[in-house]
Amino acid sequence: MANTNLANAKTAKNDEFYTQYPDIQKEINAYLDYNPDVFRGKTVLLPCDDPEWSNFTKFFAQNFELLGLKKLISTSFAPESKKFKEGYMPTLFETESPIFDKDKTRTHGKIFVLDHDANNSGRIDIEDLQWQYLEGDGDFRSKEIRKLRDEADIIVTNPPFSLFREFFAWIMEAGKKFVIIGNINAVSYKEIFPYIKNGEVWLGSSYFNGGAAYFIADASMYDPAKMSNPKNAFFQDGKFLWRVNGVRWYTNIDHGRRHEPLRLMTMAENIKHSKHKEVKGQQYVKYDNYDALEVPYYDSIPSDYDGLMGVPRSFLDKYCPDQFEIIGVDSTDFAEELGIAPIGEEWIQKYKAAGGTGHMTANMRNLVLTVDGVPKISYARILIRKKQ
Ligand SMILES: C[S@@+](CC[C@H](N)C(=O)[O-])C[C@H]1O[C@@H](n2cnc3c(N)ncnc32)[C@H](O)[C@@H]1O
Repeated sequence: MANTNLANAKTAKNDEFYTQYPDIQKEINAYLDYNPDVFRGKTVLLPCDDPEWSNFTKFFAQNFELLGLKKLISTSFAPESKKFKEGYMPTLFETESPIFDKDKTRTHGKIFVLDHDANNSGRIDIEDLQWQYLEGDGDFRSKEIRKLRDEADIIVTNPPFSLFREFFAWIMEAGKKFVIIGNINAVSYKEIFPYIKNGEVWLGSSYFNGGAAYFIADASMYDPAKMSNPKNAFFQDGKFLWRVNGVRWYTNIDHGRRHEPLRLMTMAENIKHSKHKEVKGQQYVKYDNYDALEVPYYDSIPSDYDGLMGVPRSFLDKYCPDQFEIIGVDSTDFAEELGIAPIGEEWIQKYKAAGGTGHMTANMRNLVLTVDGVPKISYARILIRKKQ
């Protein structure tokens, strides 16, 4: 019970991570580099935000004219509806406004809209944002926010981590363009992978700092006693930053990186020159229970191999659809339909005899392999093939 409470508290706080301005700027610039008019004349919706201080709202409002936006809509979730509610205080911006309502500030979401030069300054910018309370709490699943979704052309946000699947489905059912933040593990979800395989959704252009994002988090998460590595959680410029691994942008808007093929060596060249000890001087092997070549690093993909290959999920950061096709992913939801055979009792015995540990059953369909006579369980893999 205590553990469940702890896990819930952590999930609640994880839903309250905020994105840094330079991360948003870098990603959005990549779409603009590829197509400078990608946002021109468009209505952009930023749901699951906190417009008064969100960097998404700030970025899009400040660059409204540069992007050529038609309308910017940003909405927030009511503090009372959030899983993590501690320490809520309305901002001065809100309390000093004539429409401030001391009850609604807790129970209602807010909507900020930017579509004209409200203060007659001669330009449309962040100063022209108009706000009011929503009728409801701003839940993205509500009728009110669905209506805004349907009005929008492009949806951009870092949605609550705990509702990522639902949020993704919410966008896809409306057929909208989007740029959102999620975890790399989501690529193998049964609700998401089919879109990646079919080339309808892909990873964004930038992938934070080697896959680790530093989000602005609630300072109550700071516990020096539990933070052994100061690089994972620290204060910077008055903000508490929290490192989260495996973070990516997901999108269906084109960018240049998708059209840059990987420069790869042949199998023989890899074996001779690879910088990876698992590849240099070794032989590539096939899985014991699937007819595909194990490739431990994306930059070790042999350029002259035409068959199926299992590559790390991080391959998707470099994926160029003109160069490779995605065939499948080794997760439980897809392993059987892909034809990955159950590992079998005999393999488990060999694995245990070689010192392998962990609970395994013969009907499991994890990818497994034998390297220098030692049976191993593969890391998570995406299955790909060179484009013919
Ligand atoms: C990961 S934070 C990101 C905030 C902001 N988009 C950013 O990146 O700076 C997700 C936000 O969604 C809010 N949220 C949680 N559940 C929600 C829901 N069902 N509908 C709308 N927003 C929700 C959270 O309270 C939190 O403010």
